[in-house]
Amino acid sequence: SPEVKLAVFGRAGVGKSALVVRFLTKRFIWEYDPTLESTYRHQANIDDEMVSMEILDTAGQEDQLQREGNMRWGDGFVLVYDITDRGSFEDVAPLRGMLDEVRRPKLAPVVLVGNKADLEHARQVATEEGERLAADMACAFYECSACAEHAGTGGGVAEAFYELCREVRRR
Ligand code: GTP
Ligand code: MG
Repeated sequence: SPEVKLAVFGRAGVGKSALVVRFLTKRFIWEYDPTLESTYRHQANIDDEMVSMEILDTAGQEDQLQREGNMRWGDGFVLVYDITDRGSFEDVAPLRGMLDEVRRPKLAPVVLVGNKADLEHARQVATEEGERLAADMACAFYECSACAEHAGTGGGVAEAFYELCREVRRR
């Protein structure tokens, strides 16, 4: 079955590890663990085809060299921000820029995820801003929550990973 390498990027604390764990186990982790990188394997039936995923959960605090290596390694990329952290949203465009630089002349498949949609009271980034950024980057957009099953739009975490797999397979 096809193998797809996915890497998850975003500022420290946006919930990359929580999203990956939610996707893989349907559970939520509360403890904050500033992660070292980890990779996971996962198989899923997407549109009647078994797809093997290798998922790299990067560390928000990785250095430039590590980041560049990870950007070369992946076939597709989940760019994550935290809807309660404006700065994490502002980090996304530069991340995309760096991806484009590293992957030139090809455009890397990405999906944009606005996480922590359960924290509506603390929201700093409007849904429309996420939609606009995704339109600029010509990619799919999901607002979701690693801790609530149906928070936000788009039907959740798994759909973001599945859509990225589809996008990679289309290339
Ligand atoms: P680094 O590995 O340091 O780059 O951070 P990370 O992006 O992996 O963040 P992590 O998954 O460790 O989550 C950071 C904190 O946010 C943890 O305390 C999580 O429990 C919390 N968190 C993650 N996702 C959500 C979410 O959707 N909603 C809420 N309320 N909290 C979340
Ligand atoms: Mg982490």
